[in-house]
Amino acid sequence: MKYKSQKVAYWFFALSLLLLVLQIVYGFIMGFARAGFDPLHEFIPFNTARAVHTNLLIVWLLSGFMGAAYYIIPEEAQRELVSVKLAYVQLVSLALVGVVAVIGFHFNIWEGRKFLEIPRQLDYLVVVNVLLFLYLILATLIKGKRRTTTSLVLTMGLIFTALLYLPGMIPFDSQVLDSFFRWWVVHLWVEGVWELIMGGILSFLLIKLTGVDREVIEKWLYVIVGLTFLSGVLGTGHHYYYIGVNKIWLIVGGIFSALEPLAFLAMALFAVNMYRKGEKKHPNKLALYWTLGAAIVSFVGAGLLGFAHTLPQTNLYTHGTLVTAMHAHLAFWGAYAMIIFAMISYALPNMTGRKLYDGARGRMAFWVSNIGMIGMTVAFGVAGVAQVYLERILPEKGLEMSFMQIQNEIQVHFVVLILCATMFTVGIIAFVVDFIKHGQPTDEALEK
Ligand code: HEM
Ligand code: HEM
Ligand SMILES: [Fe+2]
Repeated sequence: MKYKSQKVAYWFFALSLLLLVLQIVYGFIMGFARAGFDPLHEFIPFNTARAVHTNLLIVWLLSGFMGAAYYIIPEEAQRELVSVKLAYVQLVSLALVGVVAVIGFHFNIWEGRKFLEIPRQLDYLVVVNVLLFLYLILATLIKGKRRTTTSLVLTMGLIFTALLYLPGMIPFDSQVLDSFFRWWVVHLWVEGVWELIMGGILSFLLIKLTGVDREVIEKWLYVIVGLTFLSGVLGTGHHYYYIGVNKIWLIVGGIFSALEPLAFLAMALFAVNMYRKGEKKHPNKLALYWTLGAAIVSFVGAGLLGFAHTLPQTNLYTHGTLVTAMHAHLAFWGAYAMIIFAMISYALPNMTGRKLYDGARGRMAFWVSNIGMIGMTVAFGVAGVAQVYLERILPEKGLEMSFMQIQNEIQVHFVVLILCATMFTVGIIAFVVDFIKHGQPTDEALEK
């Protein structure tokens, strides 16, 4: 059963892809600057490009999650959204906040807090926007005929995402306190409540695509939620090692963050097992690729590469280097970008009535973007290990190189990064072309 109001999702997905393309442009500006070619330096210095790159990422992922919720909740609750008009108001205001913030960054209107650079005045607009979104989702759920575990886990993830934004808005004079609470947003989002959002979307897609019973699929969801909370909450300690708080965090953070990969492993096993069990009859193989891909790549990017630098003994050396960027790219891509791509691939043919999932372009988009991103991860990793060695291990041996000299030494790895990023971008463009070729959503397609 489909619902006409689900078409709101289309426009959130479109905004998502638009901002992703813009994010990639700023990625290239940084990649070239790191390789020694920085013609835009006067207008867009590295720090500005970095803030734009990461904040656009957050906005497009949030837009993707919102789109996913607007698609999933009516179907799970078995009723139309309570107001389509308000959903469009919410879309436009989200886009507006994003655009204003990004323009501001170019005029140095931003806060120097990685990932939370949006000025606090603008944060209030974000709060209003998110409240409107939550109202629409919750009202639909409450008035609906059915409340499923899948929709509850997804909604819980969204509510906690909103609540956890608030600690990041408190002003502090102390750098330590500011840092302490910044992680409540950044860490508890990606290694906590966003995993619930991912789990919810994954569960919805697996129910639709594999044909396995809802009861079986939703049982797994409980396990994933349990593992996430068990490890992720105290796992925040892996950001508290050397920031000026109690030393107990070295032990707590080390132990609990080392357990975090289990939740991602459970998601990967979950998806693969349900696929094996399923009837394999659903024609939309592309959506299945992205769904299984998200579960597997997130385990590698978040679980394995996160574990690689999470113990205090390692993190002492790797903190804030390109090793972090290596992990950040594959984790964000695998877990959150790919699950949104899975959702788009599943929902788009249903909303537009055009079934382009048999074409070669879609499969090419999947493989080329993934291989490109894995190449980028390797390039960041090699650059990161070299950087750690030159910046932090040589001095221990009594050998010092200047900071800028070291950055020159690792320039060559960014040439590799640019090549792999180009491949990645070809895949993304193919995905966007498919998106455009599907055309816009129609009431007829959604009435079927
Ligand atoms: C063509 C594509 C891209 C290129 C060339 C690129 C390049 C870069 C560069 C050069 C940095 C800064 C590293 C440094 O501090 O020196 C960066 C940061 C970052 N990028 Fe990308 N990027 C691309 C796409 C993406 C995508 C698709 C994502 C997410 C799915 C992403 C997520 C991030 C994140 C999270 C950071 C911050 C990492 C940290 O905090 O250490 N990037 N990117
Ligand atoms: C999808 C899930 C994940 C995403 C999107 C993600 C992304 C990121 C990003 C963007 C950063 C840089 C943050 C900043 O400096 O502001 C980071 C740092 C870090 N992540 Fe993850 N991560 C994920 C899961 C994990 C997991 C499961 C682990 C551990 C097993 C982990 C371990 C770490 C560590 C230790 C750091 C600190 C690096 C440093 O000190 O510079 N991450 N992660
Ligand atoms: Fe973390």
